[in-house]
Amino acid sequence: MSHDSEPQPLTAAPGKPLTGSLRPPGDKSISHRAMILGLLSIGETRVEGLLEGDDVLRTAAAARALGAGMERLGEGRWLVRGVGIGGMSDPAETLDFGNAGTGSRLIMGVVGGQPVTATFDGDASLRKRPMRRILDPLVRMGTEVLGEAEGGRVPLTLRGPREAIPITYETPAASAQIKSAVLLAALNAPGVTTVIEREATRDHTERMLRLFGAEVAVTPHGPGGHGRAVALTGQPTLRGTDVVVPADPSSAAFPLVAALIVPGSDVTIRGVMMNPLRTGLITTLLEMGAEIERLDEREEGGETVADLRVRASRLKGVDVPAERAPAMIDEYPILAVAAAFADGPTRMNGLHELRVKESDRLAAVADGLAQNGIAYAIEGDDLIVTGDGLPPKGGGKVATHLDHRIAMAFLVLGLATREAVTVDDGAMIATSFPSFLPTMRGLGAEVRGEVVA
Ligand code: S3P
Repeated sequence: MSHDSEPQPLTAAPGKPLTGSLRPPGDKSISHRAMILGLLSIGETRVEGLLEGDDVLRTAAAARALGAGMERLGEGRWLVRGVGIGGMSDPAETLDFGNAGTGSRLIMGVVGGQPVTATFDGDASLRKRPMRRILDPLVRMGTEVLGEAEGGRVPLTLRGPREAIPITYETPAASAQIKSAVLLAALNAPGVTTVIEREATRDHTERMLRLFGAEVAVTPHGPGGHGRAVALTGQPTLRGTDVVVPADPSSAAFPLVAALIVPGSDVTIRGVMMNPLRTGLITTLLEMGAEIERLDEREEGGETVADLRVRASRLKGVDVPAERAPAMIDEYPILAVAAAFADGPTRMNGLHELRVKESDRLAAVADGLAQNGIAYAIEGDDLIVTGDGLPPKGGGKVATHLDHRIAMAFLVLGLATREAVTVDDGAMIATSFPSFLPTMRGLGAEVRGEVVA
């Protein structure tokens, strides 16, 4: 799956209703954090339900290179032996994060706060992504940036201080990755570090830091209380613990929208994490008229999870407020697909952060819609997709730009368009949803082609 392997095209064709049930893989955000907090703890961390996608495996390899013991006990079951805060060693080689923005940025926070030196690199997609947003606060905390590609990108080398400097930092973008990098560096700072965010973003780092024994105070911040001030007391002793990873709502999104748009479908998606900072897509789809039932809500691994029963639905266009973006930031490609089947325009506001994901997702989505005869417009940072309630033509070939979510979104499109849709390369799907093809085929989807790692 490296960026120099041959492209592996896949084609999705319209067909019979999707039926049955599935459990999506473990949440990617939580899986990264379980490996990282396992590294920074004293003792053993046992993880159940880990996403064994390429992104998380890169983070596990980085944690091992920094000194952690790593053992795979079975499918999704991992044992991490931590080194504790201050106990890491210099990795012998460059940390290659492949396609993984989250893994690279969070480990930059870890390295940036501790007396170690490490070089970060990744694939052609990661090499384009902005890292200044992570380096800026880290430099204030005492990190030295020894070398960086032009414009603050990987490859770059960081040397952390003996002790980090506690700071108060307002994040310049609504980004859980920036927040998390600062909090992870702050673990080795004597005193309280506060991260202020104008819009609340996913809170998995805060929740897991508490689970491992850190003191984290979270208070509402700013007008309307939409923001958060997150204050971490530095130099705690983190103790290894058990982590159960719930199913990833961002992966669930693909079979979910597929079931909504393929006529006659009835699919149950089990164990999906319902953290309100991750459920913006479900809120939006319900507003569009989707039939989604939340069944058997329960607690699993410190998060609320539910089974989602999804039936094919007539959708109508809606306005998606910009404030909702952090709670569904990875779901806009698949929402754009749902919107193509809705009656009337769906306006998605405030999508500027989409330009710096695994690809420029705003451009990649727009291009994919255009290839398949779907009406859209981009106005500033807003995307408007207009459907007439009928299946769009399809028949296009979509460029995925090394972006797993572009590949999966447009394959879902092809399950319900009038003509089949091809994506130019499915290799990156394995970064977040390695079982995507067998899962979708198990529901009855017709997807032709294979990807080999
Ligand atoms: C993530 C945060 C989001 C999201 C990414 C995972 C995380 O990125 O897009 O897939 O686990 O913290 P940003 O923080 O850059 O918005």
